[in-house]
Amino acid sequence: MHLVGELSAVLATALFIFALYWMNDPKTARRGVIAGVVGMTVAVLATWIQPEIIHHAWIVGAIALGFVVGVPLSRVPLTAVPQRTALSHAFGGLAAGLVGTAEYFLWRGGSATAEMTHFRMSALAAEVILGFLTFTGSLMAAGKLQEVRWIPQRPVTYPGQNFVNIGVLAIAVGLGVAVAVHPGAPWAQQAFLVIAALALIFGVLLIIPIGGADMPTVISILNAYAGLSAVAMGFVLDSKLLVTAGALDGSSGLILSIIMCRAMNRSFTNVLFGAFGKAQPALAAGEQKEWKQETVEGAAQLLEQARNVVIIPGYGMAVAQAQHKVRELYDALTKRGIIVKFAIHPVAGRMPGHMNVLLAEANIPYSALVEMDEINPEMPQTDVALVLGANDVVNPAARYNKGTPIYGMPIIDADKAKTVLAVKRSKKPGFAGIDNELYVQDNTWMLFGDAKAVLSDLVKQFGSGGIH
Ligand code: TAP
Repeated sequence: MHLVGELSAVLATALFIFALYWMNDPKTARRGVIAGVVGMTVAVLATWIQPEIIHHAWIVGAIALGFVVGVPLSRVPLTAVPQRTALSHAFGGLAAGLVGTAEYFLWRGGSATAEMTHFRMSALAAEVILGFLTFTGSLMAAGKLQEVRWIPQRPVTYPGQNFVNIGVLAIAVGLGVAVAVHPGAPWAQQAFLVIAALALIFGVLLIIPIGGADMPTVISILNAYAGLSAVAMGFVLDSKLLVTAGALDGSSGLILSIIMCRAMNRSFTNVLFGAFGKAQPALAAGEQKEWKQETVEGAAQLLEQARNVVIIPGYGMAVAQAQHKVRELYDALTKRGIIVKFAIHPVAGRMPGHMNVLLAEANIPYSALVEMDEINPEMPQTDVALVLGANDVVNPAARYNKGTPIYGMPIIDADKAKTVLAVKRSKKPGFAGIDNELYVQDNTWMLFGDAKAVLSDLVKQFGSGGIH
């Protein structure tokens, strides 16, 4: 039985590594997902068949409960995937925290056979701190992204905040060290509970000063914490599988956060302490200049006369679920010999690859999707830039306006195109909460409305009765 367990652990680890590797490319991503699911199933079964596992009814009950919570969570719209992911991390963190707490009290109660060494006790303290702070931190992050009413979206800051936060963490870590050194001391039980409580409080304090726009990055950082707590749990439970799976989870979360920070030109410390997303004064240009509107007929004519069109999708396309209509427009234009490309900003939407996934769903050829660095040199020669529910990722203020939270973020140079058509519902700002002068530029024409509805009308213009 032991050998089966060991071999299954190796198999599951290999499947996890291949899952991540295959997910690097859209062509193999599906295989990657399947490998991950099979790996996790093998891991669960391999753990379950261990002879020391005896409470089978509880396990069946827990799996059933997992299904009841997990299946509806898997059905959320793509735009809600960041907060759904945060909830998964919250559950992962909670599991690690509870397992660590149970291990400690089982050991104190004398029913656990394992020897509580200083090393194992240190790992246990790390597991509990990381697990519980990931739990409340991820819940807060999910709540902020979901715009839950009683959780402030904007950063909440006060003088000495970093001092308080670091102080709370330092006390928890200090108590963790004390408990690791004297695990059997009479006061250690109370100290252990205080550590858990402080970690739960720290998770909330950590997220309060962070603004909505940094939330997807923070979720990815919390992913790294959840992975680290699983590594610590692996040391406590003496499970190599948990150590490797946790390390893969933690490092991929860390890498993803770094990629996101780079794409937004933000540093890690800025994300964690910077209070990004504070209300910014509106840009003067946005207040003074006039918004010009175009009719669908006029927009269709502009597109029809173009030699090349660059479509710049953003979060609004995802909200409107307009990708299939985009495909219809793409077909109508390419049929007329117009070259159509999609400019993909690395942080357009609310998660990495958000636009790629949506456009792939609509079967838009991958070759038409062009990364920001490649498309930008082509923008001055572009006849029409069609901005589709994108805002921050095309905001020229990022280039020069130091007072804005997006300063320094590389953008798609939509403003350099000969003509800009922009689709959005209102004059409201984007995610970062700042005005966008692109919309009031001389060569920009607005098409106000829901992206799907506007595209639908546009496509009709290219069908019977409209442009031929
Ligand atoms: P945003 O700046 O959020 O702008 C989206 C625009 O879409 C809004 O101005 C909104 O205007 C419009 N919109 C919303 N629903 C619409 C609908 N149904 N039809 C038409 N338009 C609609 O989006 P973006 O340009 O994609 O920028 C992404 C933001 O997320 C950036 O600030 C980025 O830093 C941040 N972020 C992204 C990530 C990742 S990994 N993607 C990670 C961290 C942060 P109306 O309300 O007027 O319609």
